[in-house]
Amino acid sequence: MTSETIGPTAAATIQPRASEQHALEERRSEDGAAATEPLCAEKALIYDAPEIHRLIQYWFDTTGDVLPRTEGEIYETIRDFVVVRDPKGARLLAAGALHVEWRDLAEIKSLVVDPSTQGRGLGRIIVDACLDEAVDLGLKTVFALTTTPAFFERLGFRISGVSAFPRKVWNECFRCPKYNACDEIAVTIDLRDRLDG
Ligand SMILES: CC(C)(COP(=O)(O)OP(=O)(O)OC[C@H]1O[C@@H](n2cnc3c(N)ncnc32)[C@H](O)[C@@H]1OP(=O)(O)O)[C@@H](O)C(=O)NCCC(=O)NCCS
Repeated sequence: MTSETIGPTAAATIQPRASEQHALEERRSEDGAAATEPLCAEKALIYDAPEIHRLIQYWFDTTGDVLPRTEGEIYETIRDFVVVRDPKGARLLAAGALHVEWRDLAEIKSLVVDPSTQGRGLGRIIVDACLDEAVDLGLKTVFALTTTPAFFERLGFRISGVSAFPRKVWNECFRCPKYNACDEIAVTIDLRDRLDG
């Protein structure tokens, strides 16, 4: 079976509510005419894992802005990931994961945009899709640990202390290679006003 025959299906497509207005990409049709085709986030499929791994590894190696993940860890958590695809091919332009921590708390992890498409709204599309999914699940709070808090602040997050998330510290931070020299800042967003009832 070729990758063409297992490409994304309509059923796998999230129609992100908040991110629709931020879908920015312009595509060129075969005759060269500009055709606007909004990019949107989709649930990742299993064959996306190597490309997600490639993007995470790129940013870990170049800036260290994301923590490394093995390909095995990405397969294990593939259902957490959303991706934005290049409409002209299978290449991934952006990816990120919503990981549920507890009944009222989830974390955005492994947020990565292809370096050639930074600054074109793709990070926002991924975060908005994660927040939409968090609301659909009934989660009250989403947080992230990041070296780029200003990006998250543009999207409505507020800076907070990592001590607000003791479960995260106990479960994961203790095992992190950066534990004694952590350069990440906790940011959080309250979703209660988006929940029904
Ligand atoms: C950080 C990152 C995810 C941002 O994605 P992006 O697609 O370039 O950002 P967007 O175009 O969606 O930007 C959305 C808004 O955030 C702002 N923004 C983007 N990057 C920013 C930064 N580093 N600092 C401050 N603001 C930033 C944009 O100006 C934009 O604001 P606007 O809507 O008011 O114009 C991306 O640059 C990336 O993958 N970086 C390397 C990996 C990384 O740092 N991941 C985050 C770790 S949690």
